[in-house]
Amino acid sequence: MRQWAICLSLMAPLALGAADFAGTWQMERDGQNGQKTVTTYFFKTHGNAFTGTYVSVVNGVQDQVRDVANGAIDGDRMTFDLVAWDKVARPTAYKGQLQNGELTLVLANPPPAGGRGGFGGRGNANAPTVLKKTSDASEFHMPAELAHRPLEPLQPIPANGLAQTPPMGWNSWNKFNVRIDDKTMREIADAMVASGMRDAGYVYLTIDDTWEGRRDASGVLHANEKFPDMKALADYLHSKGLKLGIYSGPGLRTCQRLEASYGHEEIDAKTWAAWGVDYLKYDWCVSNGVYGPEEMPAAYQKMANALRSTGRPIVFSLCQYGWLNVGEWGAAAGGNLWRTTGDISDNWNSMSTIGFGQNGREKYAGPGHWNDPDMLEIGNSGMSTTEYRTHMSLWSMLAAPLIAGHDVRSMPDAIRDILTNREAIAIDQDKLGKQGFRLRQDGETEVWEKPLADGVAVALFNRGGDAARMSVKWSEVGVTKSNPKVRDVWKHQDVNAPSEFTAEVPWHGVVLLTVK
Ligand code: GAL
Repeated sequence: MRQWAICLSLMAPLALGAADFAGTWQMERDGQNGQKTVTTYFFKTHGNAFTGTYVSVVNGVQDQVRDVANGAIDGDRMTFDLVAWDKVARPTAYKGQLQNGELTLVLANPPPAGGRGGFGGRGNANAPTVLKKTSDASEFHMPAELAHRPLEPLQPIPANGLAQTPPMGWNSWNKFNVRIDDKTMREIADAMVASGMRDAGYVYLTIDDTWEGRRDASGVLHANEKFPDMKALADYLHSKGLKLGIYSGPGLRTCQRLEASYGHEEIDAKTWAAWGVDYLKYDWCVSNGVYGPEEMPAAYQKMANALRSTGRPIVFSLCQYGWLNVGEWGAAAGGNLWRTTGDISDNWNSMSTIGFGQNGREKYAGPGHWNDPDMLEIGNSGMSTTEYRTHMSLWSMLAAPLIAGHDVRSMPDAIRDILTNREAIAIDQDKLGKQGFRLRQDGETEVWEKPLADGVAVALFNRGGDAARMSVKWSEVGVTKSNPKVRDVWKHQDVNAPSEFTAEVPWHGVVLLTVK
């Protein structure tokens, strides 16, 4: 009996020997709106350790390639880290178990119920991934249509001379989402003129995602049936003193999984120039499936070069959510503006978190190259008039692009008055081109300043839920002259405040001043 026990205990490590995880493991799942996701892991084992690659393909489009690191095998169990695509953000730890030929993966540190994370932040991160082995191949190879020599590192290019002040205009996404078409664009154009928005400076009208049709045999990308004649639309806008913006991205597909510009940068730039396009928003989105992080600046520069070689002045807007410290290289890559955050939504929390979070980025902004904290939500009904005034004031203090995104055809007077406040716009568009910054914070109140070519703009923001009494001394904002000219931008009134200013600021509200 004793001998058997010894014998069994010696055999145990062999009997429970490490399961064979090497090879290709796959899971297909159907998501909302008929979305089909194929998740594939390629694992390469070295004894009880392993490395690998994670690939996600959504509706046939490869949208993520990430490294697997620190893999450790313990019998039929395993743990590993899924490295963030940018290789900078924290990796996601997974644990897995092999049972009956199925490898079940779950997050090692699941977020609280309802949280997001894992699998690129899509879907229910806590749902297990159940993989089946599909082959012994342990190495991932780029599909032929995406294989390319790694892009050369960024070669800084000189400024294109455009956007000497932050671009102003309107974009279809926030209000119309995928429901934008030629008729709506023309009606918005008419309303921009009739409402006075054009004359206030909002001239770039951009068609965001979902204009894209198919490429023909020669590689030329055509608009879909929603836009029967892009050149005619551009002509219409130009005849009204407006400009046309369009949308694409460096990957194979856009965010809405429509045709993007990968491998067609030059031909697309030529097509847009021939239509009369004046502005391009270039959205990274699923380009993670094509390019590694070290290629991102060069992928943007590729399009900047293509736009330059058309000879047409086209403002270049980078949309990659502020990844990889874009302020450090966005201008060198040919960008006139670059998004610094994920998408804004029409509520106080989203707007204020994004807006106030811009402090510290002021060193990257200046004439020709601007930080873009995303488009305006003013007029989309999710915030109060007071909050929309704060939105407009904050974006103006930030020298942010002022890209409206509401239904201009039916805007109430109160919304028009906010968006066309010439004094707020003058702060945004000030030719010195300095982005404002936080001077001080006291609980939920914040005083911001923005140097102007003549004087300084000062904003007293109250982020709290009750009215607050706030004060600022001119000496704090570097104004030394006695009795400066002080102007309340929202009241459109001069203010008598020889050396300091005090006011009751409503909750979520602002007092915006210029001091000269
Ligand atoms: C997002 C982008 C949005 C909008 C959308 C269109 O990536 O941040 O502003 O362009 O794609 O699909």
